[in-house]
Amino acid sequence: MIRLTVNGKTHEIDVEPDTPLLWAIREQVGLTGTKYGCGVAVCGACTVHMDGVPVRSCGIPVSAAAGKKITTIEGLAANGRLNKVQQAWFENDVPQCGYCQSGMIMAVTALLQKTPKPTDAQIDEAITNICRCGTYQQVREAIHTAARHKERR
Ligand code: FES
Ligand code: FES
Repeated sequence: MIRLTVNGKTHEIDVEPDTPLLWAIREQVGLTGTKYGCGVAVCGACTVHMDGVPVRSCGIPVSAAAGKKITTIEGLAANGRLNKVQQAWFENDVPQCGYCQSGMIMAVTALLQKTPKPTDAQIDEAITNICRCGTYQQVREAIHTAARHKERR
């Protein structure tokens, strides 16, 4: 049994220790907002936060996440209010198909926690998530929008 804390709730799950964290989140915990894209830690679709740091959950064994605080896209909104990145995404009509967007929003939320007003160069360096729909320009605009917003909680 592995004890996994996701979005403030602790779950005892029965999985092999080397199961990717992504599968544990989706199949054992039942939160499917975190997506499977490449499976080899390249595309960023599966990005979650582990103790506040963005990680690609397809490339992390669940045993490495035991005892850590995991946050997924489902854990960002609080008291029915979107976080400022989600709100900026909404204001800028960022998503196309939407598949990559959970990971994108998790990566950007972590970036703004560390660097509240990132330059374009800092965005390019930190946000390496792949979007097959090509929403990169809208993503950049929305990051600057979010940087202007105060956290709404
Ligand atoms: S699915 Fe994890 S990085 Fe692509
Ligand atoms: S919005 Fe479709 S892959 Fe990014």
